[in-house]
Amino acid sequence: MLIALLIIARAAQIGASMLLAGIFAFELVTLGPAAQPATDDLHEVEQRLLRLVRWSLIVAFLSALLWFGLEVANMSGLPLTRAFSTTAWQAVLFQTEFGRVWQLRLGLIVVALVLAALGFVKAQLRRALTVALFLVSVTLLVSLAWISHAAAARAQPLGLLGDALHLCAAGAWIGGLLPLAIFLTHARASVSLGERAARVLQRFSTLSLGCVGVLVVSGLSNSWLLVGSIHALLTTPYGCLLLFKLMLFGILVGFGARNRLVIKTKLLRASAGSDLLRQLRRNVICEACLGLAIVVIVAFLGVTPPAPHP
Ligand code: HEM
Repeated sequence: MLIALLIIARAAQIGASMLLAGIFAFELVTLGPAAQPATDDLHEVEQRLLRLVRWSLIVAFLSALLWFGLEVANMSGLPLTRAFSTTAWQAVLFQTEFGRVWQLRLGLIVVALVLAALGFVKAQLRRALTVALFLVSVTLLVSLAWISHAAAARAQPLGLLGDALHLCAAGAWIGGLLPLAIFLTHARASVSLGERAARVLQRFSTLSLGCVGVLVVSGLSNSWLLVGSIHALLTTPYGCLLLFKLMLFGILVGFGARNRLVIKTKLLRASAGSDLLRQLRRNVICEACLGLAIVVIVAFLGVTPPAPHP
């Protein structure tokens, strides 16, 4: 039961952290120059993204508390219901590596909640707040590397660096899929957004191509440190989970390739026909669902002893 709750808490925490970094990477990098001149339709997209930020932060906060409670229960031997009724949680929070990372993460989530709330009321501060929230969300995502298997691996700082890059690439690409789907939904109904769709898609496609490259290289580094051999990849629970993840990754890249080589090419040639945008939006939502499945596998990987582990 506790292990199932831990997998749910890990998936929610990793997923919410990836989505937050993905939303701000989308706003700053993908939407970026295509956001000028500002229009009402674009403002509506930004309002939708800000609402998504708020919900991601609430999920991040609640799953952080659950994950912490489960770690306290695990380390102290107390039942989860009593995790916060003794001083055990203080010992975990202030005297363990996990606790120090959690102090940082909970602090960053609270700062982001305040900045996001400000974003609603102070439109003129929107640009500065978006940059500040981008930096906070990337720090939040990367801080996961300090409590990963890769952080405990023998080859450092390769383990930490590889995992941090892996998380950034996963956040920018997979975390950017839902914001892209929201943009495409509005672009189908708006002439001004439809005209920007090809440019936005061009930028997202280039960004995700770069992320795929970083994910493969950093993923191979993680795999070398945590699996170590083809034999272990094929014969251990950890290896089999990773193989399943790689299979989903292959399908994801297939979807991305079709979007890039077929749909985007048609979009650049012809005006942004609503049907093309509908196809693209459907593919992007499929990719986001596959990305979520990969996050769930990663949550399982996190509670499974790495293959070289005796
Ligand atoms: C869409 C593609 C991918 C996504 C979204 C993704 C996401 C992630 C995330 C979020 C983590 C957790 C890092 C942490 O807890 O600090 C992770 C770990 C890992 N990834 Fe990936 N990854 C992807 C592709 C790959 C690929 C292509 C490989 C192998 C070539 C790979 C191998 C690994 C390994 C070995 C770990 C370590 C798991 C652990 O902590 O035990 N990943 N990945």
